[in-house]
Amino acid sequence: MTLSAFTRSRSGTPRPAALRVAAVSALAVTGLLATTAGATAAAPAPTRTTAAVAAPDIPLANVKAHLSQFSQIAAANGGNRAHGRAGYKASIDYVKAKLDAAGFTTSVQTFTASGATGYNLIADWPGGDPNKVLMAGAHLDSVSSGAGINDNGSGSAAVLEAALAVSRAQLKPDKHLRFGWWGAEELGLIGSKAYVNGLPSTERAKFAGYLNFDMIGSPNPGYFVYDDDPTIEKTFKDFYTGLGVPTEIETEGDGRSDHASFKNVGIPVGGLFTGASRTKSAAQAQKWGGTSGQAFDRCYHSSCDSLTNINDTALDRNSDAIAHALWTLSAGGTTPPGTDYENTTPVAIPDAGAAVTSSIAVAGRTGNAPATLKVSVNIKHTYRGDLVLDLLAPDGTAYRLKNSGSDSADDIVATYTVNASSEAANGTWKLRVQDVAAQDTGTLNSWKLTF
Ligand code: TRP
Ligand code: ZN
Ligand code: CA
Repeated sequence: MTLSAFTRSRSGTPRPAALRVAAVSALAVTGLLATTAGATAAAPAPTRTTAAVAAPDIPLANVKAHLSQFSQIAAANGGNRAHGRAGYKASIDYVKAKLDAAGFTTSVQTFTASGATGYNLIADWPGGDPNKVLMAGAHLDSVSSGAGINDNGSGSAAVLEAALAVSRAQLKPDKHLRFGWWGAEELGLIGSKAYVNGLPSTERAKFAGYLNFDMIGSPNPGYFVYDDDPTIEKTFKDFYTGLGVPTEIETEGDGRSDHASFKNVGIPVGGLFTGASRTKSAAQAQKWGGTSGQAFDRCYHSSCDSLTNINDTALDRNSDAIAHALWTLSAGGTTPPGTDYENTTPVAIPDAGAAVTSSIAVAGRTGNAPATLKVSVNIKHTYRGDLVLDLLAPDGTAYRLKNSGSDSADDIVATYTVNASSEAANGTWKLRVQDVAAQDTGTLNSWKLTF
């Protein structure tokens, strides 16, 4: 495939807030702070008090109006919106016009696939930290057999309406928000691969995350969350927990949509899915309703993937989930590198006794812990060779910092480096200290994590 330069356009200026959500959630504030947990007085935590603003409810009627437009576009262009067909370009033009009018900076990237020109649409919401990009995207192409209303008018329309909600709220996120509509997904993720391949590694490194929405209104829906970046996954699961709707991990083909293009270059990804040709089980019908023994989407890749091939409840919930994730993940909360999280509550270390632990709660970070997580330990002891030290990650994984041995020196004032890159940053980390030999004792004075 060949790539052309991006063509940029900027029309329309951001309008005044039609609907600014003023409510600051009480939870949001605590969620962004690192707190120390100890038996008694906790040390002052490093604070950054950027408050997240509650995400708006995305009007289902607006999302469905976009789907009607996609349906009409298909009807007027030979019944589909496939790569290389007029209905695809008309879909790009429709989405772009909405975004331009709402104050986005849009660009159309062209590429060639199967001998036809393909198009990606990229929309940037002005502002936010250019070094922290949060992107949401959906493939806009259908297969040639139908209009592609669930696959993937649903994701395309919901991402569009979430972007328009950002504009209505005149959101001032800490991160930079970007939206993408991909071409030629159905030919093998070609558009999203072209986009990612066209990003210099310096640009790739700026991505805090990519959120993918492909088939989110299946007529016999399941509620599936991608099992990828832990922070993104938790953000979606938290939303669904709040609704009281159970979710499952997405397993109907990991890597079968555009998030794979981002994941392949190390960008944290997540997303939602309501199921394709796989059959809903009895247990799934029990918890979600719908019909067991029937596909989540019986019209997957068929001519009947039309306006009637949508479950409104699923589309409504998932649209709101997109807004929730955009608002939550783009807000402050990510503390800059080099931030310390400390617990200064002393803990006595019993002589040749049970292990003791001290906790540090880390919140508001995105993604995993660093590969060079620094663990600074301050222990007063009369014979440090007695001590075994482990760092416990939030999921309980133990990282050995120090073994016992014949080391006749006393205190430990040391900084250990741990490759914690496979661990979610957020959660409660523990230092576990055990004195394994009799006679000498001591106290854990304090310890600190540097992210
Ligand atoms: N567009 C995808 C495809 O045609 C649909 C799909 C199948 C999917 N399995 C998935 C999307 C899993 C997300 C996750 O193959
Ligand atoms: Zn498809
Ligand atoms: Ca001892």
